Amino acid sequence: MRSVIKYILDPVIKKAFLWYHSKPRKYSYHGITVTVLPEVFPPHFTLSTKILLNFINKLDLIGKTVLELGCGSGIISMFSASKNAHVTASDINKIALRNLKLESKKNNLPIQVIYSDLFDNINQSFFDYIIINPPYYPRSPKNTQEKAWFCGKDFEYFEKLFSQLVSRADHKNAYLILSEDCDFKAINEIAEKNNLQLKCVLEKKVFFEKNYIYSIL
Ligand SMILES: C[S@@+](CC[C@H](N)C(=O)[O-])C[C@H]1O[C@@H](n2cnc3c(N)ncnc32)[C@H](O)[C@@H]1O
Repeated sequence: MRSVIKYILDPVIKKAFLWYHSKPRKYSYHGITVTVLPEVFPPHFTLSTKILLNFINKLDLIGKTVLELGCGSGIISMFSASKNAHVTASDINKIALRNLKLESKKNNLPIQVIYSDLFDNINQSFFDYIIINPPYYPRSPKNTQEKAWFCGKDFEYFEKLFSQLVSRADHKNAYLILSEDCDFKAINEIAEKNNLQLKCVLEKKVFFEKNYIYSIL
């Protein structure tokens, strides 16, 4: 099966994608709209963001603490805030964070926005939910923008993620989405090396791609 991301990497489709993504574009979910800047991960074409949003929609988030680790456009954070969660959104993409601060103000949805390489600057020790839509292509990112897609040629993103998560009291509250197209074996091995287990809690096929949400135990 070819995933949406593989299509985007195809030279012809990549051209069309780059053209579409060269301008700010709106993305909406259940009445919440964000502007997605060209430098920020576009939720429009990939299925993962929407699947996570549908997953979150079923949760009772009133008064719950939510961390969106790697928030990109911040639509998941904004939607969680609209469901009365106390939301923290983090990323290493400063353009994304600056824009999310504006969107949060504009929509009157309070979000704590933090620049952080994974958990490096996250001081809060416990969240009820940690939502992660990770980059998973094993290539070395050339710039911040590419870090939305590429996890490092030796899966450095997952090495650091799992080694940080395992020592957190709330790691069992973390949900990670992966596509059937990723190297699950390699990612799972890194989890297991860190004494963590990936337990599938949702399998969703949209068009031609299966995605899985994992709970990290
Ligand atoms: C696949 S995108 C998901 C964006 C958003 N959560 C969504 O679902 O639409 C991955 C995001 O993780 C961010 N990211 C990549 N490496 C990171 C790191 N080491 N620390 C924090 N964020 C990171 C990227 O900048 C990007 O915004």
